[in-house]
Amino acid sequence: MAWDADKVRTALIVAATTCSGVLAAFGLLATQRVLIELFAGGPTPDRVRAALPALAWLAAVTMIRGGLGLAVGYALNGLTPRVHLAVERELFENTTGVELRAFDDDGFAEGMERATRGTEAAIELVQNTMNLFAGVVSLLAVIVAVVTIHPLLLAALLVATVSTGYAALRAGHVRFQSYLASSTRRRRQWVLQRLMADRKSAAELRSYGLRGFLLRLYDQVMGAQIGEELRVAQRVTATTSIGAAIGGIALAGVYVLLGMLLVDGEIPLAAAATCVIAVQAAQRALAQVTFQVDRVFSSGQFFNEYIRFLASSAAFLPGKPKPDDADIRPAPDGLTELSLSGVCFHYPDRDRPAVGAVTLTIHAGQTIALVGENGSGKSTLAAMISGLREPTSGELRWNSRPYASWDTDGLRRHIAVAVQDHHQWPFSAATNIAMGDIDTPADSARIEAAACEAAAHDMITELPHGYDTLLDRTFKEGQDLSGGQWQRIAAARAFLRNAPLLIMDEPSSALDPRAEDALFQALRSRQGTKTTILITHRLANITHADQIFVLEHGVVIEAGTHHELMALAGLYQQLFSLQAAGYAANAAASSMSSSLMPPCRAGVTWLDTSASASTSATQRPERQRHRKWAATRRSADAGISPGEASSAESSYQANGANFLCTALRFSAPVGPARRSWLTSWGISSVYR
Ligand SMILES: Nc1ncnc2c1ncn2[C@@H]1O[C@H](COP(=O)(O)OP(=O)(O)OP(=O)(O)O)[C@@H](O)[C@H]1O
Ligand SMILES: [Mg+2]
Repeated sequence: MAWDADKVRTALIVAATTCSGVLAAFGLLATQRVLIELFAGGPTPDRVRAALPALAWLAAVTMIRGGLGLAVGYALNGLTPRVHLAVERELFENTTGVELRAFDDDGFAEGMERATRGTEAAIELVQNTMNLFAGVVSLLAVIVAVVTIHPLLLAALLVATVSTGYAALRAGHVRFQSYLASSTRRRRQWVLQRLMADRKSAAELRSYGLRGFLLRLYDQVMGAQIGEELRVAQRVTATTSIGAAIGGIALAGVYVLLGMLLVDGEIPLAAAATCVIAVQAAQRALAQVTFQVDRVFSSGQFFNEYIRFLASSAAFLPGKPKPDDADIRPAPDGLTELSLSGVCFHYPDRDRPAVGAVTLTIHAGQTIALVGENGSGKSTLAAMISGLREPTSGELRWNSRPYASWDTDGLRRHIAVAVQDHHQWPFSAATNIAMGDIDTPADSARIEAAACEAAAHDMITELPHGYDTLLDRTFKEGQDLSGGQWQRIAAARAFLRNAPLLIMDEPSSALDPRAEDALFQALRSRQGTKTTILITHRLANITHADQIFVLEHGVVIEAGTHHELMALAGLYQQLFSLQAAGYAANAAASSMSSSLMPPCRAGVTWLDTSASASTSATQRPERQRHRKWAATRRSADAGISPGEASSAESSYQANGANFLCTALRFSAPVGPARRSWLTSWGISSVYR
């Protein structure tokens, strides 16, 4: 790892550490020589003179070792950031490369949390390995010196340090096991920390008075964490204390042994003095080695989590086409036909499929709408069409070839998606839009054209720095946008891509009526030339669609044009009527309040449900037909006598379409039976 990150520095560290170790042995031998000369017989000046060459050696060795230490420090300082960069980059290459489904997997999230800690451990691992290496080299040097003096001393030294080393390793193991066990708790803690300090949650936190609630949760999580840390600290202290006690007793034994050897005349006084120095140096080196072994072991385990995460997340990486796979095509040449046959999608851990056996065909230039209640599977279906999710079963085909036979990136380049939960990228407004086609150099004319299509241009030019305004309030001069303004930016991003297939998932949920109208005008202008898939709950915006697919529990239950579906009087007709009645009721009520209607106690809105883009000459007969139809229904009313309710008609306009609505006003409250009868006729709202 270090070698890959920076070969020169790694080689320098290894060479300098080895030299330093070898010099340590020389240093000890020089010390012994100095002592022998000083303890020899004869006048003091002569003894000092005799010791001078060895002293000069010792000084030189100390100086060189100091220099080498500085060199190692310098090289390490340059090496560790490079190692961190290499490791972290590989992690991000992985997290940005995995398929979307990885983010639905809790194991992936936990693995990522540990892997992030593992990237920091990589630095520690490099530093600790280098320190360990340095420790081993100095230890070897000292061992050579000690063995030269008396081999028995080596055995005694090992006894003195083995127990401490084992205790250190054991403590490291305990700490790591506790770390693994508290992975979920740490993520909870991290989530809570963000919730309490993040800008996005700040307003809601205050308006709902969530401070106490969140702090209590934090106390709970932290209480459990601190309890665990205290337990670990107790176990670690007990283990290391026992190790240190045994080590201390063994070290006392070493000194006793040394004394006995000296008394028995086995070693001279100078050698004994050197030996004390050597024992101390050996103890330092051994302590360093055991300490570093523990650190290498711990950081190695953390780093191992990183390696394990990379290996396990490989399962989420898209299969790369093999070079000899002749079946894989690089990218389609536009779009002629898109078909889905029996496409299903099942989220993990969910009982029911989100999308079940959808079969449909979309032709180039068509505008398609996906409609359905919340959770009916529209976004999931759109994610499969946009190549973000693979179906659990069934097949999607682009130009009659299965999606799998196209290069994934090549295919995705032909699709622009404005996802429902669009991201607010913390970059400038221009970059936010340019990201829609990031592989093409940013061109301000294109960016502005895309912004105009999404009704975002005027809003952006009013920002303090126009298109260059940074859209992140947490930076100096950064600005934030309103929800609807962000939605315009997201739509502009999709328009910029100018792809043969444009998918817009709830693109106008936060837009004001004028912006919504402008956006859908732009989308309508694609019809006939480019393919568009629209997902929206504002059904008046999709009456022009070539095909509307109505989903319920992941299944297409109705399909057809707006008029076909209205005539079908199914779910689409109900949803459309319900929504239109919101406008119609107000329009009819206001027209009635100024009319001849007598005051009454209850009323219902009878929605004619005939909406047309205009009342042109060709459409007029159709509208008359609808009026007649509405009148027929009223006359067929078995329960409403002429005096019981009066009616008024009103038309209103929304999103370029004319709506006609008929209101019935009852002089008596409408009971449940009557109400359900009215509902069965498509009457959408009852008001008082
Ligand atoms: N990542 C996920 N993991 C598990 N279940 C999911 C996930 N995303 C969506 N679902 C479930 O799949 C079903 C379909 O969700 P989907 O988002 O496709 O609905 P939708 O029709 O787009 O709804 P809406 O109108 O609210 O946007 C829902 O029951 C939802 O709870
Ligand atoms: Mg959705």
